[in-house]
Amino acid sequence: MDSIDTDRTAGATPRAGRGTGTLTVAVVGGTGTLGRQVVAALRAAGQDVRALSRHSDHPVDLTTGRGLAPALAGVDAVVDAGNGTGPARRAARTLVDGTERLLDAEAAAGVGHHVSVDIVGSAVVPMAYFELKTAQQHLVESGPVPWSTVTATQFHEFATTTLASYTHLGLTFAPPMRVQPVSSAEVAAVVADTAQREPSGARTVVTGPEIRELRDLARAWKRGTGRHSLVTPVVLPGKAGRALRDGALTSDAADVVGRTTFEEWLASTTPA
Ligand SMILES: NC(=O)c1ccc[n+]([C@@H]2O[C@H](COP(=O)([O-])OP(=O)(O)OC[C@H]3O[C@@H](n4cnc5c(N)ncnc54)[C@H](OP(=O)(O)O)[C@@H]3O)[C@@H](O)[C@H]2O)c1
Repeated sequence: MDSIDTDRTAGATPRAGRGTGTLTVAVVGGTGTLGRQVVAALRAAGQDVRALSRHSDHPVDLTTGRGLAPALAGVDAVVDAGNGTGPARRAARTLVDGTERLLDAEAAAGVGHHVSVDIVGSAVVPMAYFELKTAQQHLVESGPVPWSTVTATQFHEFATTTLASYTHLGLTFAPPMRVQPVSSAEVAAVVADTAQREPSGARTVVTGPEIRELRDLARAWKRGTGRHSLVTPVVLPGKAGRALRDGALTSDAADVVGRTTFEEWLASTTPA
């Protein structure tokens, strides 16, 4: 991957840690798709990094608060790259209640910077997951810890797992929607850069290099993975369907535009 220009996250000045100058950064969700790459980028930059999740060396559970106090002791900045999945009520326990718990624990530990990760269009697409992300972001912006947010489009990995889950009995269902997938490694570079700066109280928007129709990505995914399914249009009804069709998950006003196209990413990985 060519390196992207993360320096546009500027505005916010670089930040030194409390003790030696090295920052101590806790990455919640540090074992996930985005989080593990944020951990690697921060370690490569020489920072002292803790990967926090239910299954890591610093075990925490956002749904109960277990482990948060010891894991956040002495931490300068927290990146929240955790995620909640499944039905909305279950996902909310991590994304919304968990974020509230995390912010309270950060405030108690004297953490000076919370970096959240939001999704382009989450505030305008009426779907349960996006509504949880909007509630999560509201907590961050009104919460007790100075913050910065990186708002990204869908990761290439997410596009492929979505297409795999839309494939049944030789058919890949592709609703009419515009997407702008981005390399999660490039997003991770921006998140890591943001965590090493003073809190901005603002968003940095990161998008992929191309706005594409999902059916077009589906064909590229078939070619790249040697699948023979038939790409089949299906209509998503209602306001959400209209918003997705109209490109609500895309942006032509990014602060950082990733370089890696979906096809380049497919060629360099073994996707679902
Ligand atoms: N995927 C996308 O296309 C995309 C695009 C833009 C923004 N984002 C945002 O980026 C963030 C990360 O997404 P991702 O796709 O990288 O997520 P992911 O791969 O699903 O990883 C989620 C992480 O959260 C941890 N986790 C889950 N439940 C937890 C809990 N109760 N307590 C503590 N840790 C927990 C998981 O580790 P354990 O299982 O070990 O706990 C894992 O490390 C999310 O905020 C997401 O909305 C994603």
